[in-house]
Amino acid sequence: MIKIQNLTKKYIRGKKNIVDALAGFDCKIKEGEVWAVIGPSGSGKSTLLNILGGLDKDYSGKVIINNKDLKKYDLNYYRRHVVSTIFQQFYLIPSLTVEENIKLPIIFGKQKNKEELNERLEYLLRKVGLTKRRKHRPNELSGGEAQRVAIARALMTNPRIILADEPTGNLDSKTGKQIVDLLLELHKEEKTTLIIVTHDLSIGKHLNNKIELLDGKRKK
Ligand SMILES: Nc1ncnc2c1ncn2[C@@H]1O[C@H](COP(=O)(O)OP(=O)(O)OP(=O)(O)O)[C@@H](O)[C@H]1O
Ligand SMILES: [Mg+2]
Repeated sequence: MIKIQNLTKKYIRGKKNIVDALAGFDCKIKEGEVWAVIGPSGSGKSTLLNILGGLDKDYSGKVIINNKDLKKYDLNYYRRHVVSTIFQQFYLIPSLTVEENIKLPIIFGKQKNKEELNERLEYLLRKVGLTKRRKHRPNELSGGEAQRVAIARALMTNPRIILADEPTGNLDSKTGKQIVDLLLELHKEEKTTLIIVTHDLSIGKHLNNKIELLDGKRKK
C-alpha cells in the first residue's frame, strides 16, 4: 500500500524563484490497484513519480510504502526490489543487446539462482513479444519494441510497484495503446501496483482510480 500525506515539493532556485511543484495532497493506493496520474504540463506529475520512484528524497510530507516511511528505506534497496520506473524516453543502453538490457538491473543485485533468472528472462521476452529480437541493439528497434524492452527490464527484478511516466509519449496512438494494454496485462498477471502518468485522456478514461493534478494539487 502507498499512503501519501500532505506531499509537498519545492524547487528552489534562489530566493525569488521558488516553484511549488507539489503543493500538499493526500492519496491512498492499495496494493494491486491501477492508478492514472493526469493533469496539464507542469502540474507536478513527473515530480510525484520521481518521489515515489525513490529518485528524489527532497520532499516534505509523508510517503508510506508498505507500512514503512519511504525516507527510512535504503533507496538502493528500494529501487532494486520494491519499485521500477518506465519512462517516455526508454533509456536503453545503446551498446547492449535487447536481452542484455533486460538483464541489466539484476547484474547489480544479489546473485540469485542463475536458472531462475534465465527463466524470468525467457518469460519476459515472450511476454513482450521480443524473443526473436533478443540479439538486436536498441537502434535496430521500433519505438514500440524499445518500450517493450524497457517494460521487460523494469519487471526483471519482480518489483511490487510499477511506475510509468508517459510511457506512450513517443509512440503513435495505436502502438501506445498496445503498450498500455501490455502494462495492464502484466499488472494483472504479476499483481503489481501500477501507476501511469498520461496526457492521453483516452487512457485515463478507462481507469477508475485517478490523481488529477493542477498546480501541484489534487483537483478532486
Ligand atoms: N529540476 C527542476 N528545477 C526547477 N523546477 C522544476 C524542476 N523540475 C520541474 N520543475 C517545475 O516543477 C513543476 C512541475 O514539473 P513536472 O515535471 O512535475 O510537471 P509534469 O506534470 O510532469 O509536466 P509534463 O506533463 O510537461 O511532463 C513545473 O512548473 C516545472 O517547471
Ligand atoms: Mg512530466
